Amino acid sequence: MNYGLAYAVGFHPWEDADTEPGFVAKFEELFGREEKGRTPPFGKALDLGCGSAIWGIRLAKRGWEVTGVDNVQKALDRGQARIGKAGVEIRLVNGDVTALTKSDVDAN
Ligand SMILES: C[S@@+](CC[C@H](N)C(=O)[O-])C[C@H]1O[C@@H](n2cnc3c(N)ncnc32)[C@H](O)[C@@H]1O
Repeated sequence: MNYGLAYAVGFHPWEDADTEPGFVAKFEELFGREEKGRTPPFGKALDLGCGSAIWGIRLAKRGWEVTGVDNVQKALDRGQARIGKAGVEIRLVNGDVTALTKSDVDAN
């Protein structure tokens, strides 16, 4: 899949998963398990291939400190707009998830 081209022509059907009950339920299950018995803030979360940050935003709203990494600037631009509307803080980094040491992702 050429994601740069996909985002350039407005093809990003994976963003619709955010409103599909099955995906949302799985997300709730996974993070509910991780958060069980704890109170926010939960710590750092790295969203690899974050796209337009639909899941990162959900994580940030739950109390995670999210960094999103993607190598398509158009996706990150969409994410930045979405983040602004959601009123959360997420750090977005343009980088290759297969070469994170070369990216600007904080190692700590
Ligand atoms: C199917 S989309 C999913 C996006 C997002 N996680 C979501 O669920 O909405 C895959 C994403 O991974 C990104 N991606 C693919 N290979 C990547 C790489 N090597 N480094 C960084 N991002 C990558 C693409 O640009 C695209 O935004």
